[in-house]
Amino acid sequence: MKILFATSEVYPLIKTGGLADVSSGLPAALHALGEDVRVVIPAYRDALSAVGAVEELARFAVSGCGVTRTVTVLLAVEKPFGAEVLLLAVDDLFNRPGNPYQNSDGEDWWDNGERFGLFSRAVVEIAMDRAGLRWQPDVVHSHDWQTGLVPAFLSLETPRPRTVFTIHNLSYPGRFPYALFAGLGLPADWWHYTKLEFYNSLSMIKGGIVFADQVTTVSPSYADEICLPEHGLGLDGALQQCRDEQRLSGIINGMDTQVWNPATDEHIPYRYSVQKGRVAQKKRNKQALLTQMAGPQSEAALAAPLCGFVGRLVEQKGIDLIVDAVADWLENTDACFVFIGSGQAVYETLLRELAEHHPQRVFVYIGYSEAMAHLLEAGCDLFLMPSRFEPCGLNQMYSLAYGTPPVVHATGGLKDTVVDATVDSLKQGDGTGFVFNVPTGEALRDTVLRALALYQRPRSWQQLQKNGMLKDFSWQCSAERYLELYRSGGV
Ligand code: ADP
Ligand code: GLC
Repeated sequence: MKILFATSEVYPLIKTGGLADVSSGLPAALHALGEDVRVVIPAYRDALSAVGAVEELARFAVSGCGVTRTVTVLLAVEKPFGAEVLLLAVDDLFNRPGNPYQNSDGEDWWDNGERFGLFSRAVVEIAMDRAGLRWQPDVVHSHDWQTGLVPAFLSLETPRPRTVFTIHNLSYPGRFPYALFAGLGLPADWWHYTKLEFYNSLSMIKGGIVFADQVTTVSPSYADEICLPEHGLGLDGALQQCRDEQRLSGIINGMDTQVWNPATDEHIPYRYSVQKGRVAQKKRNKQALLTQMAGPQSEAALAAPLCGFVGRLVEQKGIDLIVDAVADWLENTDACFVFIGSGQAVYETLLRELAEHHPQRVFVYIGYSEAMAHLLEAGCDLFLMPSRFEPCGLNQMYSLAYGTPPVVHATGGLKDTVVDATVDSLKQGDGTGFVFNVPTGEALRDTVLRALALYQRPRSWQQLQKNGMLKDFSWQCSAERYLELYRSGGV
């Protein structure tokens, strides 16, 4: 089957979060299953420098917002994860440094609507084989608001490829003023709440929800949650309708076991696996992590439990709950803490202050570092992921694979991938982490205390680590589910 995978970020070329990991992991798995997958992204400046040699395949014109632009289709000569990668170059839209969505002050690019609206138009030209590639996909799989208009534009074509749209995070709806709706030449009757209009603005994510043949989200629990007013962010009606029409499903993300595997990980100095019984290597990785974070290397710090966090510093991730609870842990336990992240300035400052006040026990790296994220997973004893909501979440799966039991709030994909450790669940080989039900600092505090108590019982702890490490979160199974959906998404 020919699959065009349209996305706004892909690891290892450009990444701000889990979407990038999924955009390489799933196509890699589909490619391994023998499918012809082409991933298409905008040719951001940083992606072009990461990709190495490119070959120009075609040029075509795309119009919108009063301008006709030339799109150059570039093929990455090396295939970073098996599948082909195409980059669409439009200099005035994408040849900018840094983050794909924001300027260096952390503000959204002023023309994001135009950038991704036109990217979506360009994807449609490829999908309809009008771009000069002489290749027409059977299915176009697009993701999140940035490519939400792809299924909408494609719905105007006959015959056309099938469309699948995946929601990775409903809280980024891609809302823009009416002027963009008009500038993109969208049909006038789509300015209606049953189509693309959302509280007097254009919602790009609605393009996917309303027009795709199949809509998915990245875990079964999140699929249930977003149909409810509490979590639907005003789109629950449209999503429930999708569900009634049997167009909505939840497929849990996999993880890329080539990239996240403690037995082969090139970012960690001491590799280990549960099969070879070398999980004790974690201790040496812990020492390496503490050294790197400029922490103490005393036996005391090494002996104390080390709790880690990696992620975007935004409310979604429950970083404020950690900040609420940490004073108690510092006072009543000997645990130490490592944070790696960047995001809202207020949380960056709070974490920096915490590290200044507790230089022997709290270590903070504000920024983005793939290598340090791997070392943190390998070197920590416990992983903190108290997200308020989490469509899927990848870090909890990485933690399980690295023998670092996660503490999670029972929401979305966290609920679907982590099983609370109880006497019974541990014995049965099911218990893999620590789960709490209400997203409050108190509940998190108590759950971490419960985890630290179990940490004092080495045999139970080792059983817990082993249970998590033996879980199979590879893409194989989920990739097969997507294939079924691609086949059944009939038009
Ligand atoms: P989300 O996509 O909502 O940010 P996920 O858990 O799905 O959350 O994926 C986050 C991905 O981004 C993981 O691969 C994680 O390791 C990575 N990540 C997030 N922040 C950082 C950071 N500061 N440094 C390195 N990796 C990070
Ligand atoms: C989003 C979600 C996260 C998910 C990721 C990949 O960024 O916040 O939960 O794992 O997409 O699907």
